[in-house]
Amino acid sequence: MKKFAVFGNPIAQSLSPTIHQMFAKSCAEDISYQKIEAPLDSFEATIDSFLATPQTVGCNVTAPFKERACAMAKHKDDAVMMARAANTLMRNKKGELCAFNTDGIGLVADLTNNGLNLQGSKVLLLGAGGAARGVVHPLLNAGVEHLHILNRTVEKAQAIAEDANNPKVTAVKPEQLFTDYDVVINSTSASLSGTLPAVPDAVLANCKLAYDMVYSKDNGATIFMAHAAQLGAAKQLDGLGMLVEQAAAAFSIWTGKQPSTASVIEYLRNH
Ligand code: ATR
Repeated sequence: MKKFAVFGNPIAQSLSPTIHQMFAKSCAEDISYQKIEAPLDSFEATIDSFLATPQTVGCNVTAPFKERACAMAKHKDDAVMMARAANTLMRNKKGELCAFNTDGIGLVADLTNNGLNLQGSKVLLLGAGGAARGVVHPLLNAGVEHLHILNRTVEKAQAIAEDANNPKVTAVKPEQLFTDYDVVINSTSASLSGTLPAVPDAVLANCKLAYDMVYSKDNGATIFMAHAAQLGAAKQLDGLGMLVEQAAAAFSIWTGKQPSTASVIEYLRNH
């Protein structure tokens, strides 16, 4: 049996064990996948001891440990370098710790699954924290033509644009915004506290898709989705599909197998 776990604090809310067990079933893998609350003062030791256990293949990491997971790793993929945060860990054959950030791959997969063609598209990213940083490279790799970043603290958006070092990525002020974005993505943590990031009504009203990276526990619309719908945005989506797709990318890194995701997303929507 292959062993996995997700580490966070708190962690009780995590859907990862359910998701990975469904993947394992569909890929004929026999796995255990625990959720483990790591103590805030000994995250690194907790990870080290888990990864040293026989049969362990890898683990996921969630809030508030993603930056510490990045700092621990010897090898980091591009998304980890950009985000300075990792959600997936495993040891290579030499025993060295490798870190991956699959959140952006998950976002791109979910947008694509929902019919959005990112090639040549115009994207507005709201927020400039770790969640925003993690999706910049995957969005560019998917062919986004204009990636605008709008953040309450302008300097943080500018820092991401500088780090991206790509003319397609711009930190924008409200007066520089387009009114015809293909998708407006809310990466801020505002939804979690029931508030909305500031964005002009016309921008949300005219976008093809308003996407919230978080999802609501009761499966209803997040405050951001409800606001966009009220203004007339054509479509709204929460981040449940992204959650399942980032998990699928991690599962694939660990096992080399690509699980199907549609049935898992549907199951979680209905339960
Ligand atoms: P994460 O790693 O989840 O991205 P973070 O690094 O704390 O979390 O970043 C949270 C982001 O949400 C930041 O861009 C923050 O804006 P500031 O950079 O100005 O702090 C944004 N954010 C949080 N609450 C917000 C609110 N009520 N309105 C607008 N932006 C908000």
